[in-house]
Amino acid sequence: MGIKKVESIWLDGALVPWDSASDHLLAHTMHYGVGVFEGIRAYHRADGRTAVFRLREHIDRLLDSCAICTMDSPFTRDQLMQACVDVVRANKLAACYLRPLIYLGYGAMGLGSMESPVRTMVACYEWGAYLGDEGLKRGIRCMISSIARPSASSGMNKGKICGQYVGSVLAKRMAAKSGFDEALMLDPQGYVAEGTGENIFVVKNGVVRTPPTSAAILAGITRDTAITLLAEQGIEVRQEPIARDELYIADEVFLTGTAAEITPVREIDHHKIGRGEAGAITRGVQERFFSVVKGSDSKHDHWLTHV
Ligand SMILES: Cc1ncc(COP(=O)(O)O)c(C=O)c1O
Repeated sequence: MGIKKVESIWLDGALVPWDSASDHLLAHTMHYGVGVFEGIRAYHRADGRTAVFRLREHIDRLLDSCAICTMDSPFTRDQLMQACVDVVRANKLAACYLRPLIYLGYGAMGLGSMESPVRTMVACYEWGAYLGDEGLKRGIRCMISSIARPSASSGMNKGKICGQYVGSVLAKRMAAKSGFDEALMLDPQGYVAEGTGENIFVVKNGVVRTPPTSAAILAGITRDTAITLLAEQGIEVRQEPIARDELYIADEVFLTGTAAEITPVREIDHHKIGRGEAGAITRGVQERFFSVVKGSDSKHDHWLTHV
C-alpha cells in the first residue's frame, strides 16, 4: 500500500515540508527499535465535518508507551493532541490516518546511551480500509501464525513500541505469502492473543468473548469501543482466555483496530467460520461503529475531536 504524499509533517513543534522531514541514518531508533507510535483515524462525518476518533485515548497510550520505554516526551498531552489537529488541518484532508512517532534521534549509538535526542513527529495521509473494502463486507481469511506474542516477562505488550513489531510484521508477511489476509497470534501458553495489528472477538451461541487486557495483547481502543457499543445493545463481552480450537468452532469471529476498524473473519486455517460470511452480531456492531465514527450518531461526541 503506497503512501500518498501530502504537503507537510509536524516535526518537533512545527510543520515542515513532507520531503524534508527526514533524519540521520544513525538515528538510535532505526537500529534498536526503542521508539513509540500510534495509529489514529480522522473521519469525514455525515455532517461534513472532520473529526479525529478517540484522540485523547490514543495520545494517552502514546505517553504510556513513552513511560514504558523510559523516554520523556518533550510535549504534553494537549500539545500532542493539538499537533494532530494542526497537521490534518494544514494538509486539508477530510479523512486520513495519523501516525505520531516519538523516537530517539541521532546523537549517540550505545545501547544504554541517554544522549540521543527525543524527537516527535506526526504524519497524516489518506488510507482506505486496511484489510480491503471487500474484507469489511464479506470477511477475511486468517491463518494462525507459528510466531507467538512475547511473554509478559519480556514483551511490553501494553505499549506500541517500534521494535516489538518485528514478530507481527513477519507473521503478517508469512500469512500473505501463504495466501491469507491476516495472521492471528497465540500467546506463549497457546491461547489466542490477537491479530498482528488487531484485537480479536469470538461469538458462540450468542456469547461474545475476547482475551482480557492482562493477556499478551495491546489494549486496543477499538476493542474498548466495540465492548462499549455491544454493552449498549445489551450484549456483555466476556473477557477470558480463548483456546485455538474455539476459533474453529465459533459462530462468528471479528477483528478490531484503528486500521482494520471492525472486520469480520470468514475463515481460519481453512475452517469456515459460521456460514463463511459476516454474522449478525458482527454486522450489528460494525454498523454501530461506522455510525459513531462517521455517521450521524451523536451519542458519543465525547469521542470526537473536531478539526
Ligand atoms: C498489536 C496490536 N493489537 C491491537 C491493535 C488495535 O488497537 P487500536 O484499536 O487501539 O488501534 C493494534 C493497533 O494499534 C496493534 O498494533
